[in-house]
Amino acid sequence: MTRLLIKDVTEKFDETVFLQGWVATKRDHGKLTFIDLRDRTGIVQCVGFGKMGELTTESVIELIGTVKKRPERMINPHIQTGTVEISVDEYAILNKAEELPIQIDTQGHEISEEVRLRYRYLDLRRDRMQKIIRLRSAYLNALRGALLKKDFVEIETPLLTKSTMEGARDFLVPSRFQPGKFYALPQSPQQYKQLLMTAGFERYFQFPRCLRDEDLRADRGFEFTQLDLEMSFVTREDVMQTTEAVVKDAVKQVGGKLRDEIFPIINYKEAMEKYGADKFDLRSDEEKKAGVLAFAWVINFPFFKKVDKKDAAEVRDSKSGWTFTHNPFSMPISEHAAWLLEGKNIDQITTTQYDLVCNGLEVGGGSIRTHKPELLKATYKIMGYSDKEIEQSVGHMLEAFKFGTPPHGGIALGFDRLVTLLTGEESLKEAIAFPMTSTGRTAVMDAPAEVSKEQLEELGLSVKKK
Ligand code: AMO
Repeated sequence: MTRLLIKDVTEKFDETVFLQGWVATKRDHGKLTFIDLRDRTGIVQCVGFGKMGELTTESVIELIGTVKKRPERMINPHIQTGTVEISVDEYAILNKAEELPIQIDTQGHEISEEVRLRYRYLDLRRDRMQKIIRLRSAYLNALRGALLKKDFVEIETPLLTKSTMEGARDFLVPSRFQPGKFYALPQSPQQYKQLLMTAGFERYFQFPRCLRDEDLRADRGFEFTQLDLEMSFVTREDVMQTTEAVVKDAVKQVGGKLRDEIFPIINYKEAMEKYGADKFDLRSDEEKKAGVLAFAWVINFPFFKKVDKKDAAEVRDSKSGWTFTHNPFSMPISEHAAWLLEGKNIDQITTTQYDLVCNGLEVGGGSIRTHKPELLKATYKIMGYSDKEIEQSVGHMLEAFKFGTPPHGGIALGFDRLVTLLTGEESLKEAIAFPMTSTGRTAVMDAPAEVSKEQLEELGLSVKKK
């Protein structure tokens, strides 16, 4: 017999059906045993006469039974299959479950993070987590669909690459072929996506995994997913409008509620004066309760700032005491291009950067890029780089810019943050299937872990004891 999905049992009155799933609950009433059987589509009550008493909850079983209409007074309005029950003829246990180490019929907030993540494969069975992870998939595909409709091409870029200067520490991967040399895992696909513009694709996107070794917070992970895009022959307004249209389309498709049909645009200076920060929450208390998403744009950021001496990445990236606020590949607004070239009025140069904020979080950022070698060089000169250091750092970009690179710009959205907000959760961890713990340990599998002496030798590495 072929398997019937539980959502379809109500169309099979008096028929014999074959079901597979988990025993969600079990109740023994003398000779009668009731179970709720669960599969990915729903739950249905099954009754066994003189059988099923041995079943344990969360075991995986299959059964053959007859779909019976429930008498009027036995109808359960709370479940989709509440008008029927399955009278079980025979069943088999496919995998018997021991008592679970965590409860899965609650929201899960009462369980410690460490325990939830150690048993994440069980934690994910809870209804709340199933809904979030499925919504994440729907959201991602809605965004993908909206971009494909607009003629974007999905392209993957390398994971083993060179340091990209996104303002965080790199995760390094030692090379076995060239002992003593390292790849860096990408903090973002920034440079490769720009090279795809040189390559003539004009409209690129992907959902890249980005890796940044920075202090963990509720809205920050070592690895996270972006919606990354880049466009050629565009202005700042074009990228903002395209992004806004795609986000609005996708949010509506997955049932999200928007506060504003047109996202407000606020100057960085104004935001700092009004909210004391460049990310803010525009929602009223009622809107918060209603779960709306309040998106807004922030523009006209300063291009440079003085290095924060406590920030290791900033200290490393700058040699002059000046560093970029967002992205070294950005173009200044056209009125300030001359200042950039001359290294004048550094603190007053405004970048074409635009940030997207939502409900108090920064959910995206991008800019129009410099596609002219002299402007990119000027940015690095302001950060105190010599010609030789510029060549080492971004020589490959300067070279690509010599061979017909169109004007271009783009943006990256923090996809985990978008899902967190859509689902009304507080922590990114609720929006990721297998997130890390707050101390940077992996879910279920125990990493970081030590490696064997042989592996280290092969890589030409030795570990200093601390
Ligand atoms: P940026 O560094 O601003 O820009 O990253 C884009 C968006 O990604 C999200 N984000 C994070 N989410 C979770 N954990 C993190 N550690 C984390 N860091 C950032 C934020 C952020 O707005 N290459 C540029 C984009 C561009 O200019 O096109 C970049 O990566 O929501």
